[in-house]
Amino acid sequence: MAEELTPATPDESEEPIKQRKNGLYPGVSDELAENMKSGWADTELRDLEPIPQAAETAARRAALSARFPGERLVIPAGNLKTRSNDTEYAFRASVEYAYLTGNQTEDGVLVLEPEGEGHEATIYLLRRSDRENGEFWLDGQGELWVGRRHSLTEAGTLYGIPASDVRELAGALREATGPVRVVRGYDAGIEAALTDKVTAERDEELRVFLSEARLVKDEFEIGELQKAVDSTVRGFEDVVKVLDKAEATSERYIEGTFFLRARVEGNDVGYGTIAAAGPHACTLHWVRNDGAVRSGELLLLDAGVETHTYYTADVTRTLPINGRFSETQRKIYDAVYEAQEAGIAAVKPGAKYRDFHDAAQRVLAERLVEWGLVEGPVERVLELGLQRRWTLHGTGHMLGMDVHDCAAARVEAYVDGVLEPGMCLTVEPGLYFQADDLTVPEEYRGIGVRIEDDILVTEDGNRNLSAALPRRSDEVEAWMASVSS
Ligand code: GLY
Ligand code: MN
Ligand code: MN
Repeated sequence: MAEELTPATPDESEEPIKQRKNGLYPGVSDELAENMKSGWADTELRDLEPIPQAAETAARRAALSARFPGERLVIPAGNLKTRSNDTEYAFRASVEYAYLTGNQTEDGVLVLEPEGEGHEATIYLLRRSDRENGEFWLDGQGELWVGRRHSLTEAGTLYGIPASDVRELAGALREATGPVRVVRGYDAGIEAALTDKVTAERDEELRVFLSEARLVKDEFEIGELQKAVDSTVRGFEDVVKVLDKAEATSERYIEGTFFLRARVEGNDVGYGTIAAAGPHACTLHWVRNDGAVRSGELLLLDAGVETHTYYTADVTRTLPINGRFSETQRKIYDAVYEAQEAGIAAVKPGAKYRDFHDAAQRVLAERLVEWGLVEGPVERVLELGLQRRWTLHGTGHMLGMDVHDCAAARVEAYVDGVLEPGMCLTVEPGLYFQADDLTVPEEYRGIGVRIEDDILVTEDGNRNLSAALPRRSDEVEAWMASVSS
């Protein structure tokens, strides 16, 4: 068994802090420094309840503990990243840390310490700012600048995990003995403290386990995914209402409109919104969103609200900007719709993960042969993958706290695996005819269509979490007319 982790001397200097790093206050008189130490009320919160998902995070930690008996496990949230000079990107905690704790603050670290048959968890966090040494108002991470933090006692109650001062953790890890693993890539300071004790291979096993653990969602997660989708549906409605304003400006109006919904109802967007009008729809990750929005063309909007707990939707609709599909647009749209229907029908417990992709690709290949774009038979096209010139990407992926969730899962557990109730995935076939593709009729060029929904595997089949957003071409037109009137 690993030795108990004992607090070590904090890394940070105990010297009084004289000035904030950006130097806004170049000089502090002794009188002012003294004055700022006192006269502050006790704001300790004493009637806190645990976060709603505390039981679920405890169950997840128990599963992790059972997989790695007798080993110390270190799961960092990560640190702030500099955007430029002294401004930082918005912080998003590592999914591994957020999944196991429900906490989302920078510099946090979850440590599972071997104890008896299992582990004892401790969450290491920045404690409240010291007012004695001036850190409170003079340090860049002082609460006066960045906002009040929970005290360690408050955090212990909220997350159901005893909390300790993270400033003491690196030193303690350096001195600790016994087997240890860390989730890499988030906290260089913590990794440096463990550098002689860990191996890449063993750490990867920890990362893979935590990715695979998230393949099947619990009830709390399913509720959050539905919330993310519901907000996303409202965000799509918001966009339809302002298409005239987008026409007068650019795709940015669409991105901004959706973002407003995401920030008001959720934490953020789950990924960069793709607001792709006209031929931009054929650029799969079009996130510049600086193009024109023109009546008569299509808008491919791929966007998802992320909830406060980090669960994201991932929904795409391809909409006629003037509210009516042209004949060619409809023909291409309906083929994608039909492919998506076939894909969704293949999502059920016991089905192979690959089945929904194969089902959707078959429909698309059939249409491409029918339209004379590629020579049949369909079997030959599928075997050689010739349809891929226009279908371009896979038909879906797992969805959760990452838009492309569970990405570190082993191939046998995910891509070569079997669907189980509680898995949530996207079904998102598309057809893309590049503006400069000379192998297709001219009227197809510059048309890109994708339809994407978020599908939960249930005991007896599946549930489309995003069913509230119409998909069939005539229903899309009716919905657009009703929303914008
Ligand atoms: N929005 C990224 C994707 O659909 O996978
Ligand atoms: Mn997707
Ligand atoms: Mn998407």
